[in-house]
Amino acid sequence: MIRLGVLASGSGSNLQALLDACRDRRVDAEVALVLSNVPGARALERAAAAGVATVCLPSRGQTDRAAYDAALVERLRAAGVDLVCLAGYMRLVTPTFLSAFGPAAASRGCPRVVNIHPALLPAFPGLHAQAQALAAGVKVSGCTVHFVDEGTDTGPIVAQAAVPVLDGDDEPALAARILAEEHRLYPAAVGWIAQGRVSLRGRRVLLDGAAAPGLPLRSPPPGDR
Ligand code: GRF
Repeated sequence: MIRLGVLASGSGSNLQALLDACRDRRVDAEVALVLSNVPGARALERAAAAGVATVCLPSRGQTDRAAYDAALVERLRAAGVDLVCLAGYMRLVTPTFLSAFGPAAASRGCPRVVNIHPALLPAFPGLHAQAQALAAGVKVSGCTVHFVDEGTDTGPIVAQAAVPVLDGDDEPALAARILAEEHRLYPAAVGWIAQGRVSLRGRRVLLDGAAAPGLPLRSPPPGDR
């Protein structure tokens, strides 16, 4: 069973989805450590309530990003973490971090840092993705699980889920609809990685060695009006 390290800065609802999925054996993994850069983050409370070890390394005022990430890596290694899951972690990771969790022989060419983002990447990377989607007037948005590289939400895409953007949506309404999908998609994608079913070929992520079969997605649906 692989060991997860989850990095979170805020509420930790995606962390909760991962904790629940591991507890219920829907994901063949164990959350070994939860790390936060924000003292008092709700994510730390959720981890403690689930009996998972926590570490808080406050990042405020830390200007040496590489040194900060070296401390993170040390903690994750000490906990025997195989896969790092960013879950609302509001910092960019440095090359120091990524080189420590790069593809390893044991992971069969699968990178070992993943993130969840509340938009259909490569559209709307960075902060306020839901507001960006509303401002752009898109009819469909969603969420993306991707491997992490040095850019902002630019790594290879593991899985995506789409939701409609409705006429009356404001940012909280769209964010809530997307978040419900995040809570399904992230455990599913982590589960595939835990089973060793995910591999990287160039920038394409393959499941069981093949691209996932696509379904037609359209908004508004055909024949609706
Ligand atoms: C989620 O929308 C996630 O996609 C983004 O930050 C938010 C974190 O929410 N990266 P939570 O802390 O998991 O509730």
